[in-house]
Amino acid sequence: TRRVRTRDLLAAKERGERWPMLTSYDQYTAAIFDQAGVPVLLVGDSAANNVFGYETTVPVTVDELLPLVKAVVRATKRSLVVGDLPFGSYEEGPTQALRTAVRFMKEGGCHAVKLEGGRRTAPQIAAITGAGIPVMAHIGFTPQSEHAIGGYRVQGRGGAAEDVVADAHAVAEAGAFAVVLEMVPGDVAKRISHDLAIPTVGIGAGPHTDAQVLVWQDMAGLRTGKAPRFVKRYADLATVLTEATRNFAEEVREATFPAAEHTF
Ligand code: KIV
Ligand code: NA
Repeated sequence: TRRVRTRDLLAAKERGERWPMLTSYDQYTAAIFDQAGVPVLLVGDSAANNVFGYETTVPVTVDELLPLVKAVVRATKRSLVVGDLPFGSYEEGPTQALRTAVRFMKEGGCHAVKLEGGRRTAPQIAAITGAGIPVMAHIGFTPQSEHAIGGYRVQGRGGAAEDVVADAHAVAEAGAFAVVLEMVPGDVAKRISHDLAIPTVGIGAGPHTDAQVLVWQDMAGLRTGKAPRFVKRYADLATVLTEATRNFAEEVREATFPAAEHTF
């Protein structure tokens, strides 16, 4: 089994085959998702929230993300690993963006990078793809801009649909191999998915995109509390882990662990 390549994802779109994408930030989840047949893993800057405990994705740095990228790459055989460029590492322009993308490829060892923005970051996408690095774009709601957008809000409603459509065409023309559509109305995502030759990856974008992505801790129910409407929990890991932890703690307090079979 060889590693998935960007052209496999394009071929899947041509055949009308949907594919899943998950975030991953460590070796155990990466190996499980790889073995389970998830063709694309994203080391998201959502590690800011889901690994490092920041409130937003704004503070996380390249130096914090690169070790996670390395871990996910080392633990996988088949999945294509995408490294997410964090806020502040590409906005200055194509030169800065290319420098950061090269670090992700050389030091992180990932197979593609992702960055946020449509028309405004098309020059960055062109520079990175021009250097031979595949780029996944990310438009619609872009969490790194949440302070400018004014919170988590659906993008592209009503007349604003044309902005999202223009962004989609701009990133495809700049050379992106795929584009994440986050929190855009289903009909807008459908239209973009139909218009573009490259695969669309939806999150909160309805059922008509070519692929779907979720943050793995949301998908598996490790994160508790109110989840966004677009999240579906396929497991309840928070409860499983809480019960395991309580049982371990109780057995230690009662001196029933370790037992004879755990003892040398
Ligand atoms: O960082 C992330 O997790 C993402 C995906 C949700 C697309 O950008
Ligand atoms: Na991200």
